Amino acid sequence: MWWLKDVWVIDPSQKLSAPRDVLVKGGQVLEISSSMTEEEVSVKAQGEAVDTVDGKGKFVFPGLIDVHTHLREPGQEDKEDILSGSRAAVRGGFTTILAMANTQPVIDSRALVEYVRMQGDRAGFAHVHPIGTVTKGMQGTELVEMATMKEGGAVAFSDDGKNIQNAEVMRLALEYAKLTGLLIISHCEDKDLAGEGQMRRGVSSARMGLKGIPASAESVIVARDLMLAEETGGRLHLAHISTTESVDLIRQAKARGVNVTAEVNPHHLIFCDEQLGITDTFLKVNPPLGSRADRESLIEGLRDGTIDMLATDHAPHTQAEKSRPFAEAPFGIASLETALSAVWENLVVPGRISMDRVIEAWSVTPALRFGLQGGSLVAGAPADMVLFDPDFSEVIEPATLVSKARNTPFLNKTLQGFPVMVWVEGRLVQRNRIVL
Ligand code: DOR
Ligand code: ZN
Repeated sequence: MWWLKDVWVIDPSQKLSAPRDVLVKGGQVLEISSSMTEEEVSVKAQGEAVDTVDGKGKFVFPGLIDVHTHLREPGQEDKEDILSGSRAAVRGGFTTILAMANTQPVIDSRALVEYVRMQGDRAGFAHVHPIGTVTKGMQGTELVEMATMKEGGAVAFSDDGKNIQNAEVMRLALEYAKLTGLLIISHCEDKDLAGEGQMRRGVSSARMGLKGIPASAESVIVARDLMLAEETGGRLHLAHISTTESVDLIRQAKARGVNVTAEVNPHHLIFCDEQLGITDTFLKVNPPLGSRADRESLIEGLRDGTIDMLATDHAPHTQAEKSRPFAEAPFGIASLETALSAVWENLVVPGRISMDRVIEAWSVTPALRFGLQGGSLVAGAPADMVLFDPDFSEVIEPATLVSKARNTPFLNKTLQGFPVMVWVEGRLVQRNRIVL
């Protein structure tokens, strides 16, 4: 049994943010209460050994649920695999991750869904749930067998990495997905507007001499998909929102009652295009970093609930790929191990957003919207749980990262505020930044 003493519990699922004692037994949260004596705890232990943790000055919260991670298995295991990615997850405070379907081959059949799920179970770190593609081969034309893939364990459908250009295919996807009750996750990017762009179109792209991706490449598809969701009544989730116009469109659609949620990635809340240098391929990401004004809109959208969730879009790539010239390097930031700390240091500490909102957006809401275990520490809930030390600082070094990828903008920088203990169903899987 675990006894976390005098720890600040953040659990927005029960509107709790206060110092408490927490007991974990048999893989579940047994009790959260104001204070407990040794005698009371030993009675509740019923003979079991008690591991006591001094929680003073630390936070405990439900494990983060990341609805957008690229684990690259099958097919691109030089970048990442399910074992390394799910170890990186628990190192970063994530107890559940959703594996994106743009692997090689893409996850467009029940057999492949089952493969990802079984590899996740076998790894035994974070819970791994497969996302299936929307279309066969991610070709954007023919829908997958959604019901069968759901039976195999798919928890959502997405062609992420690629937009579904054909509006009729997207409309049908939203219509058919209703039969499964699962979400369609949209990677909103008009292929023709984005063209060969390498970063957001604007003064910075002109200065760097790189082809630009206009903000409208995202927003026109956001507008389209909101209308299709409204017309069909389908359940829509918008991945990695990055522009002011998208936030405004989502805000208006929600006011009309459209069944939509949206996520934002930490890098879009922290960086903007003017910070990019021609060698900064670690900041090359899709959608590209936007303007300062976009960044402000995203923070405001996350604060007011227009944007429902945080998600990493953990996109591991090899050093060789990211060492290419900017225009030839692949898009993506590896972020499972640094994302929470980066949000803490850059947004929570300066008072831009509360830690309660961060936990709601990265744990409670993802669990509810995707229908997943977790997101709550109520008595009886599985103990998927994180102990977070705001004073723990660490240099982000290749030697300590457990992900295969090093493509993080925080490489060789110091971050402060990290998960120092992580439990999955009551089993300790990370202690003092070491994955067990
Ligand atoms: O930066 C990105 N990388 N954005 C995406 O949408 C896909 C991802 C990847 O798969 O590398
Ligand atoms: Zn995407």
